[in-house]
Amino acid sequence: MTNSEHVRMQRDGAVMTVTIDRPKALNALNAAVLDALHAVFTDIQNDRELAVVVLTGAGGKAFVAGADIAEMVDLTPEGAHAFALKGHAVCALISRVGIPVIAAVDGFALGGGLELALACDFIVASDKSRFGQPETKLGLIPGFGGCVRLPRRIGKAAAAQWIYSSDIIDANTALRMGLVTEVISSEQFSSRVNAIAQAIASRGPCAVRAAKRVLVESEDLDMISACALEAKAFSSLFATPEMREGTTAFLAKREPVFCWGGSRTAL
Ligand code: CAA
Repeated sequence: MTNSEHVRMQRDGAVMTVTIDRPKALNALNAAVLDALHAVFTDIQNDRELAVVVLTGAGGKAFVAGADIAEMVDLTPEGAHAFALKGHAVCALISRVGIPVIAAVDGFALGGGLELALACDFIVASDKSRFGQPETKLGLIPGFGGCVRLPRRIGKAAAAQWIYSSDIIDANTALRMGLVTEVISSEQFSSRVNAIAQAIASRGPCAVRAAKRVLVESEDLDMISACALEAKAFSSLFATPEMREGTTAFLAKREPVFCWGGSRTAL
């Protein structure tokens, strides 16, 4: 995997940190950044050695302050449609990539930046973070999935109030709304994010992938089909060495040892 001008990758064992690195524009998403993210997550999708991805923004001020307004200002409706589809493609790829993706938000996550974070499995935030869909202030609506993913995360009424008003909220309000799972002090932010990622990387790799698959695919299913999908995924794990290791280790009162990569069976 190669770094691009505005997207950097850093690998630590089975954990990959992907950093959007355009701090002068508060990591705003232009077409080049979206293309780079698409390439990176395509590579991640094909990498069987990885356990978890942390997606974050550089500069200490923003995760991502939105789609690039300077690039959008002169778009025609056709150009805007292509731009929206590009953003949607990146968000869809992130949401369906085979392993968990953590949005590590340390600063502003606005507009397309919040939509990118919503495509991740969950969002953890530093206490200085701010969240919003401020598009109506620009005469726009969210264009990378905010009208779709935000109500599913926090409920339709809260999402409606927030999208209509363009209000910006702080990290603790986001926690109360269920938008973020954890608020972390700025000083402890990177060590806590790393601990969360390493904890996931230490669990059964087939199990984590299977859990993500059921969580993602069941969103589009009725209850009966979703439960059937879960039962199938649950039972398929009984054919894996890691299930033997996990259950045997429990009964032997020792910690399980799992191996990411080659020894896994494909799920
Ligand atoms: N696009 C392009 N450039 C941006 C940007 C964005 N979304 N957000 C910030 N920047 C740029 C600023 O223009 C500024 O550049 P210059 O130094 O060259 O002037 C630089 O980043 C720093 O920003 P500010 O000086 O504004 O910093 P601040 O601390 O005063 O304010 C902020 C921070 C509140 C986040 C403010 O920058 C802001 O409101 N940004 C725009 C947020 C927004 O509206 N996002 C939604 C975009 S539309 C969208 O995302 C549509 C979609 O769903 C696809």
